[in-house]
Amino acid sequence: MSWVKNFFIYLSENQTLNKGAQRWGLKLGAQSVVAGTNIDEMIESIKKLNAHGISCTIDNLGEFVFEKEEAVEAKGKIIKVIEAIHEHQIDAHISLKPTQLGLDIDYDFCLANLTEIMEKAKSYDIFVNMDMEDYDHLQTSFDLLDELAKTYDNIGTVIQAYFFNSVDNIQKYKDFRLRLVKGAYKESETVAFQDKKDIDKNFLKLIEYHLLSGKFTSIATHDHHIINHVKKFVKENNIPNDKFEFQMLYGFRKDMQIELAKEGYNFCTYVPFGEDWYGYFMRRLAERPQNLNLVAKQVFNK
Ligand code: FDA
Repeated sequence: MSWVKNFFIYLSENQTLNKGAQRWGLKLGAQSVVAGTNIDEMIESIKKLNAHGISCTIDNLGEFVFEKEEAVEAKGKIIKVIEAIHEHQIDAHISLKPTQLGLDIDYDFCLANLTEIMEKAKSYDIFVNMDMEDYDHLQTSFDLLDELAKTYDNIGTVIQAYFFNSVDNIQKYKDFRLRLVKGAYKESETVAFQDKKDIDKNFLKLIEYHLLSGKFTSIATHDHHIINHVKKFVKENNIPNDKFEFQMLYGFRKDMQIELAKEGYNFCTYVPFGEDWYGYFMRRLAERPQNLNLVAKQVFNK
C-alpha cells in the first residue's frame, strides 16, 4: 500500500478534522461525489439518476459516532430519509453504517436504533443495506444482522473481498441479498489480503459464488475488468438480469453508469449526502489518488 493511500486513510480517521470539516460545508471538491448536505438536495440528485433508469441507495453520511445524542440524531435523519423516499416515490433504498448508530457506544443501544429504522423501512417495503466498516466492527456487525434478520427480511449486507474470512462469510450469508466489494479500509496483513491481484481474484470468486447461488447480488465496483468479466459470466451461466445489479458511487464514472443502465443492466448508484462528508471523501482519495484532480480543479477554479 503506497504512502499516499496510507496518508488519506489516516486523514479519514482523524476525529478533529472530521468534526472541523462539518463547519466548512462541501469543500475540496467533495460536492462532485456527495449529493448535497440536506434531504431536499439529495432528492433532486436522485430524481436525475432515476430519469436515466438508475436506482439509488442513500447514505446519510456519518461514522465513528461516540455520543448517544449523535447516534439518536442520525437515526432520526435516516427515518426522515425513509419517509422522503416514500413521499417522493423515488427508486431508492437505504445504506447505513452501524458505528453511526452507536455500535461503539453500546451494542444493545445500536440494535434498538437499527430496529426502529428497520420497522419504519419495513412499513414502506424499503430495503436496508448494512454497510461493512473496518475489521474491528466486522463480527459485531454480523451479530446485529443475525439479530435483525430474525424479524426483518428487508435487510442485506456487504462482503469485503480483502478479508481472508470473506469466503466463510459469503457461505454463511448466501441466502441474503449481498453487496460485494473489494474493501475500503486499511487492514492488517493478519486478516486481509494486501495485494491488489489477490483481492481481485478473491472478489471474482465471491461474485461467481453468489451469482450462482441464485440470490440477488450487487456488484459494487468501478473496475471495468471486473464488470466485463461479470457480463461474460452471467451470459455463459444464463443468470437473468433481475438477479444482479452493478453499483458505483455517486459522481464516479458517470458515463459508464448511464451506459450500463442503457445496456439493460440493473444499475444502482450509492448516493452519500449530509454534512459529515470528510471521512467518506478522504477514503475515496485513498482509493484513487487521481481523484485529487477534483480537489485541484476546486482550488484553481475559484
Ligand atoms: P479499484 O479502485 O480497485 O480500481 C480498479 C481499476 O478500475 C483502476 O485501476 C482503474 O483502471 C479503474 N477505475 C477505478 N475507479 C475509476 C474511476 N473513477 N475512473 C476511471 N477508472 C477507474 N467498501 C467497504 O469496505 N464497505 C462498504 O460497505 C462499501 N460499500 C461500497 C458501495 C459501493 C456502491 C461501491 C462502489 C464501493 C463500496 N465500497 C465499500 C468501496 C470498495 O470496497 C472499494 O474500496 C472501492 O469501490 C474501490 O475499488 P473498485 O472496485 O471500485 O476498483
